[in-house]
Amino acid sequence: MNYRHAFHAGNFADLVKHGVLTALMDVLTREAGPLTVIDTHSGAGAYDLTGEMSRRSGEAAAGVFRLMAAKDSPPAFDALKAAVRSMNKGDEVVLYPGSPLLVAKALRKGDRYFACELREDDCATLAETLQSFANAVALNTDGYAAAVERIPAKGRAFVLIDPPFERGDDYAQIARAAGAVRNKNAEATTAVWVPLKDLETLDRFLRELEDAADTPLLVAESRLRPLNNPMKMNGCAMVMVGAPEAVIEPAAVICDWVAARLGDPGGEARVWRT
Ligand SMILES: C[S@@+](CC[C@H](N)C(=O)[O-])C[C@H]1O[C@@H](n2cnc3c(N)ncnc32)[C@H](O)[C@@H]1O
Repeated sequence: MNYRHAFHAGNFADLVKHGVLTALMDVLTREAGPLTVIDTHSGAGAYDLTGEMSRRSGEAAAGVFRLMAAKDSPPAFDALKAAVRSMNKGDEVVLYPGSPLLVAKALRKGDRYFACELREDDCATLAETLQSFANAVALNTDGYAAAVERIPAKGRAFVLIDPPFERGDDYAQIARAAGAVRNKNAEATTAVWVPLKDLETLDRFLRELEDAADTPLLVAESRLRPLNNPMKMNGCAMVMVGAPEAVIEPAAVICDWVAARLGDPGGEARVWRT
């Protein structure tokens, strides 16, 4: 496992993922009844953008730095911007939240959060990041297996799947886990972050996931440029199973803003059902 999210923290793809994640948490925590959240690939929980890995990639410059400087960003980004502001002093952006901090901050009394991370070093940082949240726990374990094991058979639940896509079987593993989660609890919402490189890979994955989950999907795509160079990350998407209707509007606004403000002139965004 060579992937370190610190290289990519706060880039355009994190803005799409974390913007849609905060919108989902907002919708899911408005409904009554305890919510169980499982984050299959949690990373370290929070990132120092002045650290060596972040500085080497410089990816936050075309992501969160632009978002925080934009005075006219849409309200759909307010929760993410507030989380960033709460970690930093003044207008300078040094620290950036990962999915664990964004989920933990949104939890209510009675909700539960399991954050899974396979790397021991990142999991130790994750545990520190989450230590002040009584109903959040960091697990040094395989997130795919944990999701299926820990998803309650009844009741409200949300699974975030955000793998590094380092392995050839990533897409198949996601489809298997999301299908098993859906089989165990048909009320659960699952959101999967995927890179957009070429259309064939996206289409194949959507078919595989739709078959495994046996239900239509909601796809929120933000393309920075046409998907005609499979060697490049040309955009990204959040693909959702059991998505609440109320997430469609904020997801569309978030994907549009990222494509229009951070993409090339040929960039575009859309939210659609399979
Ligand atoms: C893209 S990063 C996660 C970023 C995080 N979700 C966020 O938004 O802040 C993927 C993480 O998954 C971890 N990982 C890889 N395979 C895993 C597995 N099977 N189970 C749990 N974690 C895994 C990697 O070590 C890496 O830290």
